[in-house]
Amino acid sequence: MSKQQAVLDWIDARFPLTSTWKAHVSEYYAPKNFNFWYFFGSLAMLVLVIQIVTGIFLTMNYKPDGTLNASGVPVAFASVEYIMRDVAGGWIIRYMHSTGASMFFVVVYLHMFRGLIYGSYKQPRELVWIFGCLIFLCLMAEAFMGYLLPWGQMSFWGAQVIVNLFASIPVIGPDLSVFIRGDFVVGDATLNRFFALHVIAVPLILVALVAAHLIALHEVGSNNPDGVEIKKNKDPVTHIPLDGIPFHPYYTVKDVLGVVVFLIVFSAVVFLVPEMGGYFLEHPNFDPADPLKTPPHIAPVWYFTPFYAILRAIPSFAGTQVWGVLGMGGAVVLIAFLPWLDKSPVKSIRYRSTKFKVMVTLFIIAFIGLGILGAMPSTNVRTVIAQIFSVMYFGFFLGMPFFTKNDVGSVATPARVTDNTGGRQVLFFVLMALAIGGATLFAKMV
Ligand code: HEM
Repeated sequence: MSKQQAVLDWIDARFPLTSTWKAHVSEYYAPKNFNFWYFFGSLAMLVLVIQIVTGIFLTMNYKPDGTLNASGVPVAFASVEYIMRDVAGGWIIRYMHSTGASMFFVVVYLHMFRGLIYGSYKQPRELVWIFGCLIFLCLMAEAFMGYLLPWGQMSFWGAQVIVNLFASIPVIGPDLSVFIRGDFVVGDATLNRFFALHVIAVPLILVALVAAHLIALHEVGSNNPDGVEIKKNKDPVTHIPLDGIPFHPYYTVKDVLGVVVFLIVFSAVVFLVPEMGGYFLEHPNFDPADPLKTPPHIAPVWYFTPFYAILRAIPSFAGTQVWGVLGMGGAVVLIAFLPWLDKSPVKSIRYRSTKFKVMVTLFIIAFIGLGILGAMPSTNVRTVIAQIFSVMYFGFFLGMPFFTKNDVGSVATPARVTDNTGGRQVLFFVLMALAIGGATLFAKMV
């Protein structure tokens, strides 16, 4: 017996190392037809690691302190400037973290979209989906609290606007908003608690939820672009799914390709356009927070804008914004109910009716449209368009039990998985790029 084997045996007698590796990696049989859309789970894990590692290094020099220093600049803001200008390698760590925040949402939105088109939330993966939705909620909280830390104008006023929303909740609202802020206005106490929650509490929960997400997934097995349950066709002798291949080395190698392409895009942003034209780092945030000077246009970062547009689209009734707040919250919560709203016996969009495909397309148009409108100052016309898109957004979820009832396509789901159709995915991206470009132009005109 080799020395390595002896060490491994020693560990295995005390800790389930080899059996865990086998169960979750080298003998986890995943469907052999994973396509482009299956890159985003591993990429989300990569971004999570990037955020945690860069976050640890940022924390070494960042100071969560809203008081003014000798030059009259808030200490927190000055500490970020210090990281950018004086700390060795500080700028790259900070830009990796700020770019990572946006890329997290790019990756997670695409990951969720894959779930939607392939019906990955359906039985038996409901819990995988629920854990995913909890991750999404935590991610939003994490990003929101992280955005306050540089203590720039947008950090301050964005937090002010969003925390004030809680005040519109009947009965408990005013006390709740004071409880969140730790003060009657956003201030040093808010900065301190957001820092504590951002660097330790929420990341801990996130990591635990990701573990639960993967344990749940490996319990039931992965879905695939055909929506075929590979566990239904097992080799009678080995009991290995006939359409399954071991995750390692097949998908570890495939995921490396995704990682390389992702890192090229990520580096291009970090090195060439870290502010991304004001979408990843908003311009007013280069000015220190000033409680006496409201910026002319307060907008959240792009990944919140679809939900923010829904909030603005719902008018105040009797002087309260509570309906807008409920609409915005409802838009997020509804996603978790997909497993029960979708009544179709078919999982994958490939084998669903044209009606379903049209509904998904309309939903995507509404979601992207809301995202574009939410980033812009509102006008009367834009508000009406946002209202139409909001109706489409909620219509998609609330109408789903009806338009998916007995919904099957002209081609039945095959018994075994089929080959990849890469062409369709390229076409999808070309169409998406055209749609987003067209929608942005249109929104700029109105
Ligand atoms: C930090 C965020 C997340 C991480 C690290 C993560 C990680 C993963 C990984 C590694 C997989 C397996 C590989 C793959 O199928 O791509 C997976 C699958 C899955 N995830 Fe996530 N995920 C995250 C967020 C979410 C969210 C927000 C949702 C939905 C609300 C979600 C829903 C799903 C579903 C339904 C599957 C199974 C897909 C299938 O088998 O077709 N995940 N996730």
